[in-house]
Amino acid sequence: MRKNGDEMVKLRPTMEIRGVRVWQGLLDRPAQDAIVEDIRKVVAKAPLFSPMTPYGRPMTVQMTSAGRFGWVSDRSGYRYSETHPKGTPWPVIPDSILSVWDDVSDSDRAPECCLVNLYREAAKMGLHQDRDETNFSYPVVSISLGDEGLFRIGNLTRGGKTESIWLKSGDVVAMGGDARLVYHGVDKTREGSSTLLEGGGRINLTLRVVT
Ligand code: SIN
Ligand code: MN
Repeated sequence: MRKNGDEMVKLRPTMEIRGVRVWQGLLDRPAQDAIVEDIRKVVAKAPLFSPMTPYGRPMTVQMTSAGRFGWVSDRSGYRYSETHPKGTPWPVIPDSILSVWDDVSDSDRAPECCLVNLYREAAKMGLHQDRDETNFSYPVVSISLGDEGLFRIGNLTRGGKTESIWLKSGDVVAMGGDARLVYHGVDKTREGSSTLLEGGGRINLTLRVVT
């Protein structure tokens, strides 16, 4: 992976909020471009779709996945699936993305899911926990690309005070340890704040060990 600045120094998080570690500017522009190119290939095989929530409303983000498992949602609930809604296996997780996991996750296992979220226009994501995985001792690692997104961090239970941070293109976040099950969400994106993505918008990748 190509990173900004000195490797050893850069691998230390630049910030920690409620146990959530943030590496601001970890990925430089060429590294971001390389990941976007790889995501394009993933999307060509596993097209983006707008998942239906169990409550019967489509989510405002578009999604797809890479890895053994993809995350899907429909009337029967949220879950991991070994196939795309069109019935095919998910593409493998690109090496450009796996290397970010290797650099920040402190984990002896490889991620089994790379969820791709595309935020366009007014897309957002309500406060939630990532808890469809079997083993919470592995972190969730997230990579932000494109427009800035306002990431809100709450508590281990619903409600209470929250703190927010604008995540920029190339920022990496890890929710692990005591912060693994923290409530989080994205309130909005800043349209036009990045030139990375053709057609604009924000992509967030989340890497998880599922089993
Ligand atoms: C997620 O929680 O799945 C996405 C987080 C983000 O978009 O930064
Ligand atoms: Mn999440």
